[in-house]
Amino acid sequence: MIAIYPGSFDPITLGHLDIIERGCKLFEQVIVAVLRNPNKSPLFTVQERVEQIRRCTQHLPNVEVDSFVGLTVEYARLRNAQVLLRGLRVLSDFEKELQMAHTNETLWDEIETVFLATSNEYSFLSSSVVKEVARFGGSVDHLVPQQVALDICRCYAETHPGATPPIAMNPVSRVNHQPVDQEV
Ligand code: PNS
Repeated sequence: MIAIYPGSFDPITLGHLDIIERGCKLFEQVIVAVLRNPNKSPLFTVQERVEQIRRCTQHLPNVEVDSFVGLTVEYARLRNAQVLLRGLRVLSDFEKELQMAHTNETLWDEIETVFLATSNEYSFLSSSVVKEVARFGGSVDHLVPQQVALDICRCYAETHPGATPPIAMNPVSRVNHQPVDQEV
């Protein structure tokens, strides 16, 4: 069985990687599909996200990374996939995910959505949380794959040159969250 794991992955987190690794044990092939969404202004381009995911799934021979536009079920049909794979973290995810699964089923009744419960240690984790922490100078090393943490560091250094660097790189901010000379 081929499963599509669709998402924004802006950026991929350790929670996503956990779902991919576990999905690989259940399905013949897992296609991680990055949505090209013209309505969002992401931190990373689709190409960058695809490359990030490829780098951190190199150890998984049955993973393919791709991008798509439009409806997920249309992409699934195109790829001969029978399953959409999604992770479930907390109760608030459930409502949105169930609505999406039901909508997808009305669009193509041969598609099944399979949910994997996110591992406990990642139940709080999302790409938005990662960006929020990084934006305010916190370390994200424990939240995303190592190479992605470096990309985030680089990205915020380029796009937010005045921002506080991540705590791990700035011992002063570890103490009072703002270097003394930046206090107002
Ligand atoms: O990582 P995300 O942002 O939670 O992923 C959401 C995603 C990409 C799976 C969802 O928005 C999606 O499938 N978008 C494609 C459009 C679509 O098929 N919509 C119908 C289902 S509501």
